[in-house]
Amino acid sequence: MSKFPRIQDLEPIAFRKIPPFIHAYLDAGTGSGHAMIRNRKALDEITFTPELMHGRFEPNLKTNLFDQQYALPFGVAPIGLSSLIWPSSEQHLAEMASRAKIPYTLSTVAGASIEDIGKKSVGFGWFQLYPPHNRDIMISLLNRAANAGMRVLVVTGDVPGPSRREDMRKAGAPIGSRNATKITPKMLFQILQHPNWALASLSLNGKLRFKNMEPYAPKDSLKPISAFIGEQLNGSLTWDYLSEIRSNWKGKLLLKGVMRASDALKAVDVGVDGIVISNHGGRQFDGNPASISVLPSIRKAVGSNFPLVFDSGIRSGLDILRALAMGANFVLVGRPFLYGIAAIGKRGGDHVTKILEEEINNALVQIGAKNIQELRQRLDL
Ligand SMILES: Cc1cc2nc3c(=O)[nH]c(=O)nc-3n(C[C@H](O)[C@H](O)[C@H](O)COP(=O)(O)O)c2cc1C
Repeated sequence: MSKFPRIQDLEPIAFRKIPPFIHAYLDAGTGSGHAMIRNRKALDEITFTPELMHGRFEPNLKTNLFDQQYALPFGVAPIGLSSLIWPSSEQHLAEMASRAKIPYTLSTVAGASIEDIGKKSVGFGWFQLYPPHNRDIMISLLNRAANAGMRVLVVTGDVPGPSRREDMRKAGAPIGSRNATKITPKMLFQILQHPNWALASLSLNGKLRFKNMEPYAPKDSLKPISAFIGEQLNGSLTWDYLSEIRSNWKGKLLLKGVMRASDALKAVDVGVDGIVISNHGGRQFDGNPASISVLPSIRKAVGSNFPLVFDSGIRSGLDILRALAMGANFVLVGRPFLYGIAAIGKRGGDHVTKILEEEINNALVQIGAKNIQELRQRLDL
């Protein structure tokens, strides 16, 4: 804590340790990065005026969501190919989540398999689905997630097509290329300048792995796996398809990427159990408003009891409190967990969780709020 007391202290260390094309993959927004900046600016502008004389108290951070108690009001957002950012990140973060009793969300396009992460997250695993066009693959993925003990399915709706991610292209990441799994000479040059990352990544064998999707790729095709994944996952989701997923998933269902109250209401009609308000951390569309700015209108539309999860731009415990005060029930944190792993290694996720927990506790004491209801009363509107 004396070396890295804040998330922002981990970020530069992480970026020194990973090659620039990986840095760009983790950190890039899209377009000119305005949606990402807007996320931060809008969060920073939310303030609380403290109330005095509450004596000494210890805030209770336990949070109930979907019939399960979590030790803290936040979890790990799905990050595709986390194991490319730092090897075995998915395993490390799933184990961290089960130790901390918070959820870990495994992406459809993770390097680790549903089965492996189900074992490691022991009851704290959520699975994020990019719905494949092929319904048999969708049903197979849902069965695998249920059999692996994943409690919550997060269906991502805000990727109607690939984003341009200009900073990634400039850094040499093979976005838009037909063979996105191949290591190019530019990538190789960057890898050789980051020997620790390269050593840790030797298991990649020069290829990226997509263990959840690999079993479905045609065995005799000459096309790279990334082309198959792109064909299956891009622009597949419609309201009817979401209904099909609802009928095939008995656990709790969240729709992620909602930014409009009207879409939230349609999702409620389809029968989702909750919504993730998110602009994908500013990675998909640069014209998006800050996610936090749409939260109040969505809360108003769905009523006070409907579960709302929030992500995009969260970088501190205070940010988590800002989202909860604005009407969220729970928060997901994306990039910071990968900064932690890349900067410190295996236990980096634990350190990020500890920072966020300490910051939440400290801010609640400073504000003079013992619970979320009191926190909302101290919010400056
Ligand atoms: C490198 C990276 C990969 C991501 N991959 C996925 C993904 O596979 N599925 C998904 O639903 N969201 C994905 N997201 C979006 C995150 O789940 C989350 O919405 C976003 O990171 C939140 O913003 P934050 O990073 O500022 O906390 C990804 C985000 C990043 C940074």
